[in-house]
Amino acid sequence: MPDPRRPLVSGNWKMHLTHFDAIRLVQQLSYALTKDDYAAVDVAVHPPFTALRSVQTVLDADDIPIGLGAQHCHWETSGAFTGEVSPAMLAKLDVRYVIVGHSERRALFGQTDEDVARTARAVKAAGMVPLVCVGETLEEREAGRTEERVTSQARAALEGMSAEEVGALVLAYEPVWAIGTGRNATAEDASSVCGVLRGLVGELAGADAAASVRIQYGGSVKPSNAAELLGAPDVDGALVGGASLEADDFGRIVRAAV
Ligand code: PGA
Repeated sequence: MPDPRRPLVSGNWKMHLTHFDAIRLVQQLSYALTKDDYAAVDVAVHPPFTALRSVQTVLDADDIPIGLGAQHCHWETSGAFTGEVSPAMLAKLDVRYVIVGHSERRALFGQTDEDVARTARAVKAAGMVPLVCVGETLEEREAGRTEERVTSQARAALEGMSAEEVGALVLAYEPVWAIGTGRNATAEDASSVCGVLRGLVGELAGADAAASVRIQYGGSVKPSNAAELLGAPDVDGALVGGASLEADDFGRIVRAAV
């Protein structure tokens, strides 16, 4: 169990890097990060499926304290689901975190709120930490529906979890309009939506869960804006896409959380 609210900075590598490139990046990352960084921040990387085993081997062999993450999985343990990977398969590779409900999975691959809830429960049951993403589109933001949208996504995702399970997971507030666009939410907006999510966790699962659930911000986090975003109240870390593919940039983002 992580200490309550230790910052978590996660690199979502998306559909980038062969397993060779992934090995190189995780090695560069291990040179960029120091003992002091690891002492203050939980760091994780989420390579594509094809690179998980290679990255795990490097982390293990060199004793690098970076958590291994996956980007997606199915909710069943095994079966006729061509193309899918199960939580049990990931757990066996020492995967610690699984991103669930990333907006790209929702928008491009039809993942529903119900799928997200089922997957989050299955990830938890397999002994890993679901990193559940929620976020509004630009239209929803402009229509003043941000709060309604993220709370309905989070409410659906937490359905059927015990208070303890809710307290141990990670939520990521990722406004869809900020992902990969270079346009980040202001620290004020990120903090206010993360605060709304924490309030919802309190309402659904109690004060202890609200105090311990970690809420990341994601969407165009870069070295230049990381300190402000990560320093904002109720923001417990970052889910980083593009900037996590450069070891130096990712290292600087991790250090902004120290
Ligand atoms: P970005 O992606 O940092 O490239 O905006 C974030 C994410 O999709 O998790």
